[in-house]
Amino acid sequence: MAKLLPITYFPCKDLRKKSKKVVDFKSKEFQQLILDMDKTMQEKDGLGLAAPQIGKNINMVVINTSDGSIVLINPKIMRKSWKKESAEEGCLSLPDIYGMVNRHKIIRVTAFDKQGKKIKFIAEDLFARVIQHEIDHLRGVLFIDKAKEITKGKDKLEEMKKNDYC
Ligand code: CO
Repeated sequence: MAKLLPITYFPCKDLRKKSKKVVDFKSKEFQQLILDMDKTMQEKDGLGLAAPQIGKNINMVVINTSDGSIVLINPKIMRKSWKKESAEEGCLSLPDIYGMVNRHKIIRVTAFDKQGKKIKFIAEDLFARVIQHEIDHLRGVLFIDKAKEITKGKDKLEEMKKNDYC
């Protein structure tokens, strides 16, 4: 059974750590974590969720797509389009805060699936944006670091900065 995991909120320092590579794909704990993260993302209506957001600093993200959710383990962006696009983004670790972020329009990604099989694909538009946002989490980068403008929740962001959500 998958269970709901507590979300780590900004400005918790866990969100700023660099995540470690996953080496043991086969463990029961890891397979359970994938299920739990997926359930947490679905329940919170997120487009994606990175492991640091549930307090695990490992290179793993789940992404919500129109065809269901996918898990990307040790993901890497191999190529990025020169063309970028700006759009509004939010994050489950920064509820009710939104900002305009410039992202590469098309990316080529390699990762491992939950069985440890290597996968390669090209992502465009919103799918590419979500992957870039989630991979940033694995390096301790948040969308507010890149946002050229906070469009909603500016006051809330200032309030959150004063707290310690760990
Ligand atoms: Co996020």
